[in-house]
Amino acid sequence: MTAAAKTPRQSEAVIADLMMPQHANGLRVPSVFGGVIMSMVDRCAALSAMRHAGGQATTLSIDKILFKEPIWVGELVEIRSRVVFVGRTSMAVLANVYAENITQGTRRHANECWLTFVHLGADGKPAAVPQLTLETAEDRLLHEVAERRRAQSLAERR
Ligand SMILES: CC(C)(COP(=O)(O)OP(=O)(O)OC[C@H]1O[C@@H](n2cnc3c(N)ncnc32)[C@H](O)[C@@H]1OP(=O)(O)O)[C@@H](O)C(=O)NCCC(=O)NCCS
Repeated sequence: MTAAAKTPRQSEAVIADLMMPQHANGLRVPSVFGGVIMSMVDRCAALSAMRHAGGQATTLSIDKILFKEPIWVGELVEIRSRVVFVGRTSMAVLANVYAENITQGTRRHANECWLTFVHLGADGKPAAVPQLTLETAEDRLLHEVAERRRAQSLAERR
């Protein structure tokens, strides 16, 4: 039996890490390596998917992450994510990336990323997830966006 419906708020997850020299890329003026941010996004979004599903979930897709400006070593990176749409076994997760310069007291929204996870049952096969209860106007808007993105992705499926 599938568990009771959950709200996007119930799957909210946050991970944060101070960017250290080992997180830097090899540029002459080093900024944070993009793969570090991608890994943080995937891990945070996985927590949201697992919270919603109440069990294990695997990454099906990670949409484009656009790095419009660098994140610097010494900054605090915070990822916030939540499930914004569910199908039968899949979940769309929206992750937002924030970078905070603690000494200057500034914080910016660095980028956002859409991911899809599939809940796996004990047998390792896709399994049904709880329904999603939308609470706010933002929930409904993000749900619509995610639904369109999923339809497009399925249409392009090979
Ligand atoms: C995720 C995985 C189990 C799905 O297997 P599958 O054979 O495609 O399973 P299904 O056909 O039952 O699809 C599962 C769900 O994914 C959705 N899906 C599959 N392909 C999709 C696509 N291209 N776009 C959007 N949704 C898609 C299906 O619609 C279904 O969701 P729904 O039940 O909500 O409708 C399988 O692709 C897998 O194991 N991938 C590797 C995952 C992994 O290792 N991730 C870590 C990165 S290396």
